[in-house]
Formats: sequence, C-alpha cells, structure tokens
Amino acid sequence: MSSESAGRLDGKVAVITGGASGIGEATARLFASEGARVLIADRNAERGPEIASEIGADARFVETDVRNGGDVQGMFAAADDAWGRIDIIYNNAGVGPPEGNVRDCDEKTFDLVYDVNIRGVWLGMKYGIPHLERAGGGSIIATASVAGLTGLAGMAAYCASKGAVIAMVRAAAGEWASSGIRVNCICPGGIATGQGWLPAERIEASRRAWASLHPVGRSGEAGDIANAALFLASDASSYVTGQQIVVDGGWTGPDARYDTMRGVDWSQL
Ligand SMILES: NC(=O)c1ccc[n+]([C@@H]2O[C@H](COP(=O)([O-])OP(=O)(O)OC[C@H]3O[C@@H](n4cnc5c(N)ncnc54)[C@H](O)[C@@H]3O)[C@@H](O)[C@H]2O)c1
Repeated sequence: MSSESAGRLDGKVAVITGGASGIGEATARLFASEGARVLIADRNAERGPEIASEIGADARFVETDVRNGGDVQGMFAAADDAWGRIDIIYNNAGVGPPEGNVRDCDEKTFDLVYDVNIRGVWLGMKYGIPHLERAGGGSIIATASVAGLTGLAGMAAYCASKGAVIAMVRAAAGEWASSGIRVNCICPGGIATGQGWLPAERIEASRRAWASLHPVGRSGEAGDIANAALFLASDASSYVTGQQIVVDGGWTGPDARYDTMRGVDWSQL
C-alpha cells in the first residue's frame, strides 16, 4: 500500500475475473493501491502476469476460464493458499461480441455470451461463497450493464445475459444477507475498453463515439467503474446489498425525448 493511500481495503483479499484488461485491470490496480491483496483471474495468460508483476508482491495471476467450474475453484484455491482468506469477489469477466439481430445471430455466439456472462458469474458465486463464509462475510460484485436495463438492438443475447446477472444478484443477495455476504452489481454505460473484440487502435474512435451517447459529454473510462467497485468492496457499502449501481454518465437516467423539447415555446402550444 502506498503511503498516500486511504487504505480502504487494508487486510482484505480480492479475486477479480477478467482482471487482465479494461475494467478488471483498472479495478485490480485500484484495489491494490487501497491495501488489498489481489488475485487476477483471466484467460489472457500473456497480459495477466504482466499486470500482476506491475502491481507487485500483493498481486498474483491465475489463468482461468470462468466457464469452467474446475478453473473457478482453482482461482479461489490459489488466493486462499496465498493469503489464507478471501473477502471480495469481483465476477467481472464478460464478452460482448457483434451478434446481429435475433434472426441472424448464430448459436455459437449466443452460447458464448451466455456461458461467459451468466454461467461464469454463477460459478463465481457458487464456488466463492464457501470462502466468504469462512472469512465471516464479504462482498460479491458482478459487472452487469445498462444493456440489462434497456433494450439495445443488435445485442439481444448480451442484453438478456446482463439482465440475468441483475436478477441473479438480487436472488443471491437474499440468500446470503444473514451470513454477512453482500451481493451487488454495477451497470456501466459505454466504457472505452474494446470489450474483447475492438482492436486497440480503434478504442480512441469508440471513445469519441460514446461521448455523444452520454449526457455528461464523455465516454466512460475503466476507472469510473473501478471506483464504483471500490465502494461496493469496501466497508463503506456495508448496508448495500441486492442492488445494481448504474454508472453511465446519465445514459439511462434522463429522458432524451424530453430533452429534445427544450426549445419548445410552451405558451404557443
Ligand atoms: N466496455 C463497456 O462498454 C462495457 C459496458 C457494460 C458492461 N461491460 C462489462 O464489463 C466487463 C469487463 O469488460 P471490459 O469492458 O473491461 O472488456 P475487456 O475486453 O477489456 O476485458 C474483459 C476481460 O475478460 C476476459 N475474459 C473474457 N472471457 C473470459 C473467460 N471465459 N474467462 C476468463 N476471462 C475472460 C478477457 O480476457 C478480458 O481480459 C464485462 O462483463 C463487460 O460485459 C463493459
């Protein structure tokens, strides 16, 4: 922990899936800077170890496919072996590939989206909860999306998968509240990360494109979501469970149809 850090996660151990890129990477770095020991779990066995080594002795990497129950059990075992406890689980890994409309989306794409985005989050709860019980409680976070709250044409499987994550979080929160385990999710708006399919050189263009969609006038950044995850991971949110925290620069809050009427002279209607 750096000396200027507030240490909001001092003494805690966090497991973060999808920690080798984007939102997960930003969160791993932020959690470590706040005093946590961090296990980065990801399929990307090139970038993951580099990030862990950049963070330092308080971070480790375990190659993990969140669709595989054995891998998920293995990532938790690795964190437990290294540090003797787990307090925070961030089930963040997800995919959002181009789908086409519901008629044209192929079954392989649908299955991939469902397996990573729903089964992966479910496995992260199923095999993570016993560790949190042993620690006497903890915080589980998932990354859902505004796509789970609204309907985005051309992304039906992705929207449905994120809606499922929101519903799963609510159900699990009810199951585990009396055990001191909180379960919440974050619904990001458009975040300039590439989401696994946009090449790095096109992320800047996506950042500009996202800007006009968000009333605050800019794209979301991975750090915006990491800050929300820090709140949900820390004791500052000890009375918050079963919620979806929307971090979307005002995308879903204001009604854009009303906004277009700003210039209307109401006295003439
Ligand atoms: N970027 C956005 O605009 C946005 C908006 C809403 C929600 N999200 C969600 O945020 C989460 C993080 O995405 P991101 O934007 O940081 O994208 P990203 O592509 O930068 O990061 C995703 C990470 O997940 C890993 N991953 C993918 N499949 C995996 C698997 N089967 N097992 C283990 N790891 C796997 C990837 O290797 C990658 O490191 C995802 O759940 C995504 O759906 C993103």
